Amino acid sequence: MTNVLFIKANGLPAERSVSVALYEIFLTEYKKSHPDDNVTELDLFEADLPYYDVTMMSGLHKEVAGETLTPEEKRLADIANGYLDQFLAADKIVMAFPLWNFSIPAQFLTYLFYLNQAGKTFKYTANGPVGLVADKKIALLNARGGIYSDGPMQSFEMSLNYVKNVLAHFGISEPEMVIVEGHNAKPDQAKDIISAGAKEAVELAKIF
Ligand SMILES: Cc1cc2nc3c(=O)[nH]c(=O)nc-3n(C[C@H](O)[C@H](O)[C@H](O)COP(=O)(O)O)c2cc1C
Repeated sequence: MTNVLFIKANGLPAERSVSVALYEIFLTEYKKSHPDDNVTELDLFEADLPYYDVTMMSGLHKEVAGETLTPEEKRLADIANGYLDQFLAADKIVMAFPLWNFSIPAQFLTYLFYLNQAGKTFKYTANGPVGLVADKKIALLNARGGIYSDGPMQSFEMSLNYVKNVLAHFGISEPEMVIVEGHNAKPDQAKDIISAGAKEAVELAKIF
């Protein structure tokens, strides 16, 4: 059976969030066209995502080194590894997230830190890091109110670019993408921009 992990990185309701609207549209269509798949939803704004702090970091490092962990280090390392194992078990992954302050929500950043573990999602080699999960299929659903695909703000786009680079580091270099942009910059066109993105999400969900 195909395991599909749907990750939502915005806690707003769909009426107030373009990325959540894309998520819900994609999810509904995906379930309709792939009725036999095993779908798991992960809402990062509801999830327990402690900061990647010193205690968690030492727990994860000690585990790799075969050292004894304190109970708190073990608790935190287990949380990070639980999310990592869930990610590794998925054949397909859908990530819906906004551009906020040119970047991604802190919850999503913390989650991606959990996934970024040598020996699990990538490995070090003499020629640099190599991704270990190239076989996963990924769809990225991203919303950004300004325009970043060209023009002076291009280099400020550290939301989709960041996520794409992290995934490329894991070996996933060509994610499918639906990008909705410019609905705040061009309010008179917002309705059309958002509904074009919604249509794209439906079409992608059918074939993903
Ligand atoms: C906290 C916050 C920060 C934002 N920062 C930016 C920004 O830096 N640049 C931009 O173009 N739009 C920014 N926006 C607008 C969002 O990109 C826009 O609302 C987009 O639709 C985000 O997806 P969402 O609707 O799912 O929240 C911001 C919105 C919020 C709520």
